[in-house]
Amino acid sequence: MKNIDSYGHVRGESLFIDDINVQQNTLLGLVFDSPKAHGIIKKLDLTEAEQIEGVIKIFTYKDIPGENQIGGIIADEPLLAEKEVHFVGQPIAFIVASSDSIAKKARALIKIEIDELPVITRAKEAAEKKHIIGTPRTFNLGNTTKAFDKCAFIFEDDVFTNGQEHLYLETQGAYAVPTENNCIKVTSSTQGPTQVQKAIAKVLGIGMHIIEVDVIRLGGGFGGKEDQATPWATLTALASYLLKKPVKFVLNRHDDLRMTGKRHPYESNFKIGLSKDLKIIAFEADFYQNAGAAADLSPAVAERTLFHATNSYFVENVKTSVYSCRTNLPPNTAFRGFGGPQGMFVIEAAIAKAANEIGVTSKEIQEANLLQENDVLSFGQIMTQTEATSSWNTALQNFNYKKLVKQVDEFNKENNDYKKGIALMPICFGISFTNTPMNHARALVHVYQDGTVGISTAAVEMGQGVNTKMLQIAVQTFAIAADKVKLETTNTTRVANTSPSAASATADLNGKALLKACLAIVGRLKTAAAEDLKVNEEEVSFQNELVYVNGKKSKLTWKALISKAMLARIALSEKAHYATPEIHFDKTIEKGHPFSYHVYGTAIITTTVDCTRGTYTFDAIKIVHDYGKSMSEGIDLGQVEGALAQGIGWMTMEEISYDNKGRLLSNALSTYKVPDIFSIADEIEVIPLETTGNEMAILKSKAVGEPPLMYGIGAYFAIQNAIKAYNPDYKLKFHAPMTPEKVLMSLYQ
Ligand code: MTE
Ligand code: HPA
Ligand code: MOS
Repeated sequence: MKNIDSYGHVRGESLFIDDINVQQNTLLGLVFDSPKAHGIIKKLDLTEAEQIEGVIKIFTYKDIPGENQIGGIIADEPLLAEKEVHFVGQPIAFIVASSDSIAKKARALIKIEIDELPVITRAKEAAEKKHIIGTPRTFNLGNTTKAFDKCAFIFEDDVFTNGQEHLYLETQGAYAVPTENNCIKVTSSTQGPTQVQKAIAKVLGIGMHIIEVDVIRLGGGFGGKEDQATPWATLTALASYLLKKPVKFVLNRHDDLRMTGKRHPYESNFKIGLSKDLKIIAFEADFYQNAGAAADLSPAVAERTLFHATNSYFVENVKTSVYSCRTNLPPNTAFRGFGGPQGMFVIEAAIAKAANEIGVTSKEIQEANLLQENDVLSFGQIMTQTEATSSWNTALQNFNYKKLVKQVDEFNKENNDYKKGIALMPICFGISFTNTPMNHARALVHVYQDGTVGISTAAVEMGQGVNTKMLQIAVQTFAIAADKVKLETTNTTRVANTSPSAASATADLNGKALLKACLAIVGRLKTAAAEDLKVNEEEVSFQNELVYVNGKKSKLTWKALISKAMLARIALSEKAHYATPEIHFDKTIEKGHPFSYHVYGTAIITTTVDCTRGTYTFDAIKIVHDYGKSMSEGIDLGQVEGALAQGIGWMTMEEISYDNKGRLLSNALSTYKVPDIFSIADEIEVIPLETTGNEMAILKSKAVGEPPLMYGIGAYFAIQNAIKAYNPDYKLKFHAPMTPEKVLMSLYQ
């Protein structure tokens, strides 16, 4: 099935927050944010701003009727700053005016005096000062101290990975409308409608039942709208509820870049120990996560780092710790991979370092340590249906790895101005929210009396194609045409108490709930059809909008059956709930089985470095990816390609930069480089790994949203290998992104 949004998107007909036909007299919101990264607010003077005609009201924390608190995991984040500010961009006041330009004028007239306090922008600096959020976590397997004594080789190093801007095409925004009896409806560009509903209820001091949150679709989220769509929706709701007027607020790009958190930068160090035959005997790592000024999702991101610290390798002795460090940056948040990529980069760095020092290739170490069936990970999950070796071998064979290496070597012998590098990147990514209680979803299905269908789930469409997958489930189960099924918006009144659309698990969780609901209706309809046709229920099936008996067409159409079922007073609606079975995790011992399954794959990346300029291009990226049994090959390929581009961007060019006063320097697209068509390889080839699929995945079609981002990690190491070919003195560095500037310095180090 084609992505059902493609026509609307191409014609510009798809609706985003800023496209909604707003009510007359809708007011516009704008945030006044902190110009300083840390300090005490001495004076906030709104008088001049308030006097401008068209300024309706400027809200501060004093206007909040409920709690001034939007922290999700830890209650440490005020909606509007009170006495102290903790990052540049922190919301202090919310201006509501009759037009956008008036709001902007007013913002320029707000005066603030701040007594500045010391600013911390680096994770390790925060750790030294004991600014830690929550409790550090440690995963332990075997005994690393004893194991290091047995190792033939031991290496240590420091690693840095930078943050990453989500750069969703649609910036953050929301539109709130008062409804009858003091209720409120908020249309939000959020991945987590329930989260928004809950925060609004808390801030307004009212029940969740008063608030309806609706999501049409997102112009991209990438994790950036899992938690961080909440403040803007809550501010518009606050103003709308108190003023009894519709209020809209869509951030402009500069405000969005400055005020929102990003992927967490990590400062880490590792110690790796290997045997003579290149088995990784012991691995230790400490991860210092730059959480920013509030917890947001950082503790959850941190734990996913530990869950992925050994990537697709079996290591007998592991000790990894993670520290969420509180700094004076905007709270960093979920970003595709959710801490997994930061963890996986470190072990790949450790392998690269070991290989370089021992004098072998990374490939030899990677290959010697790939996960086998029934291997155990550091947190106790026993790995079954492991595809680490199969995806690796398939990649080597199908893409003729030996020949690719030979081509690189020959090129490097003949050329000095350009050098090529090649790297292999295996991935292994756990599917399920690491927080077990979040792994459930619901669906609501109506079959209308004319045989058409409406479906609602908790799934939020953000470009990943989940709506198409949901539609496909209904279409297949009812055996009716796609144009007879409507996918409703994601709405808290229809489907309540939902987890955000995240963790790549949206299609699995909501799809399984939807399938359950559809099957329940099908069951009732089969009984009705059997009675009508005077046959056994087991003989009845549905195909092409017709009732079949024993595989043969009957005269009864789907439409006629529905009319008859209606007259027979059979329920044509159904809701269902699905909770992932079998998963569990015990934080007190840091052991369990948190993931319903893992997604695997292997990428081969080849790059050419221009040794005069330090620039690089990717010749080819060849991937064997474990889709399970893909239910939508077009959508899934799109996810692999998109994630790959984002991974390459993170690893090679996207350079978030703050000055030591905590001001974002990369605050525009002129100073922040994202991948474009030229950044992607000339040749991308993705082949599916042949498997029977996994029962835990929806229709055996494995989650695909996040895992392929981590193929991009291979780009870093491919570039390093090209640099080594030019400059044998180059000492490997693990400091991402590998920008052209850094490549140039390394070539002539
Ligand atoms: N693809 C597009 N086009 N836009 C997005 O915002 N988000 C990614 C991924 N793919 C995203 C995307 C992230 S971070 C996640 S967790 C998953 O999609 C969420 O959707 P899923 O659970 O349906 O895979
Ligand atoms: N992944 C993504 N988002 C999340 C998770 C997770 O494991 N936990 C909470 N939000
Ligand atoms: Mo994705 S980072 O789980 O929204």
